[in-house]
Amino acid sequence: MSPDVQTSKWSPTSWESRIASHQVVYHDRDAVDRAVQKLRMLPPLVTSGEIDHLRAQLAEAEEGKRFLLQGGDCAETLDDCTPGAITAKLKILLQMSLVLVHGMGKPVIRVGRFAGQYSKPRSSPTETREGATLPSYFGDLVNKAEFSEEGRTPDPHLMVRGYQHAAMTLNFIRSLIDGGFADLHHPENWDLRFLHHASLPDGLRSEYQHMKEQLAEALKFMENLGDTSIDELTRVEFFTSHEGLNLLYESAQTREVPRKTGWYDLTTHFPWIGERTRGPDGAHVEFFRGIRNPVGVKIGPEAAPDDVLRLIDVLNPANEPGKLVLIHRMGAGAIASALPRLLARITDAGRRVLWVCDPMHGNTISAKAGVKTRSFDAILSELDQAFTVHQNAGTILGGVHFELTGEDVTECVGGGAGITESDLTSNYTSPCDPRLNYQQALEMAFVIARRTNGRA
Ligand code: PEP
Ligand code: CO
Repeated sequence: MSPDVQTSKWSPTSWESRIASHQVVYHDRDAVDRAVQKLRMLPPLVTSGEIDHLRAQLAEAEEGKRFLLQGGDCAETLDDCTPGAITAKLKILLQMSLVLVHGMGKPVIRVGRFAGQYSKPRSSPTETREGATLPSYFGDLVNKAEFSEEGRTPDPHLMVRGYQHAAMTLNFIRSLIDGGFADLHHPENWDLRFLHHASLPDGLRSEYQHMKEQLAEALKFMENLGDTSIDELTRVEFFTSHEGLNLLYESAQTREVPRKTGWYDLTTHFPWIGERTRGPDGAHVEFFRGIRNPVGVKIGPEAAPDDVLRLIDVLNPANEPGKLVLIHRMGAGAIASALPRLLARITDAGRRVLWVCDPMHGNTISAKAGVKTRSFDAILSELDQAFTVHQNAGTILGGVHFELTGEDVTECVGGGAGITESDLTSNYTSPCDPRLNYQQALEMAFVIARRTNGRA
């Protein structure tokens, strides 16, 4: 790391002098300037007050007083900005959070991977199909998934379109939440088909049934107490998050706010830095070290604990609570060896972080048909090991991070719904990574609630 990283002067554009990996090559610089200028003038998507509020809640999660549930699509698309898709996403996250609140006995912080998850890092900058080579798909903020010259050419105006769709998404989410989700108070109306699948052992089925009945009773009890308490449970805040990959987009909406010190990235409450862009000298870390938002960092199994420590010192030099979220994504086969040494190094150094497990990104495999998939069992195994490793280390696993959808897709194999490799092609709609479907996501919440009951 160069010695000036922590001391050099920061500005919303100081990242431009650093090497930015996974940045898009635009050909029309004037169009880029026009898009950035437009984004600078448009109102923010979120407010600094909301961001501060989330940071305070994340600080409590660090102490084990709250639990973070973060989830949504791998890549949102502009076409998916529909009432059905948004409602379905919100519902599954809310239902999961109710199961977790009930099982863990603590408040859950709900954070969607939405209203801006439009930017994707890719392992290769180009893709070749039947002899034709074009730029890879980098997310709807940059180009289109459709494999054509026109679709794959990076278009700066998509940054403005992305902003507009994020605004529309957020507007609908805020209204849905304000209106309350009365039907969610009744688990008897939830779609719990996984409970009836033959592959679920009888013992587990009756345990889940019991949990569901208890949850229904608790909700009914609260409902009987009067509207206020039940509304608090289901109406409370929802926060947004996305990978802060496109720094032009992030920095254009980064502002100072009256009567507050510091700069806020107002595209989202909670941006995170991906596994591929977390180099301490790189442009992403430079940008994210200067903002007041809580910041996440994905940590893969190869990360050297000393490097992670240096990263923490750059991103959270004052060791503030609620500021830094380390999202480990190691894989079911690697977590038991890679995580303990990381936890030990960071704990010994006395650094405050919120530890979160992403059991998705270390468990991606290629199925026979050539499509990417993940197995429910591998996801569960990584999660289960994460709880155990943290418990043994005396640290707190304060949250989970999933790629999921509220729809009936067939992208991950396994779970009570019994999706097999041969089902994968029947409804695979993700343009990037495979997501848990509605049944699998809800089942995951029941499993976590059962395993953490009284222990997390
Ligand atoms: C993602 O969250 O979609 C992603 C690309 O993750 P990671 O940076 O952990 O690979
Ligand atoms: Co992904």
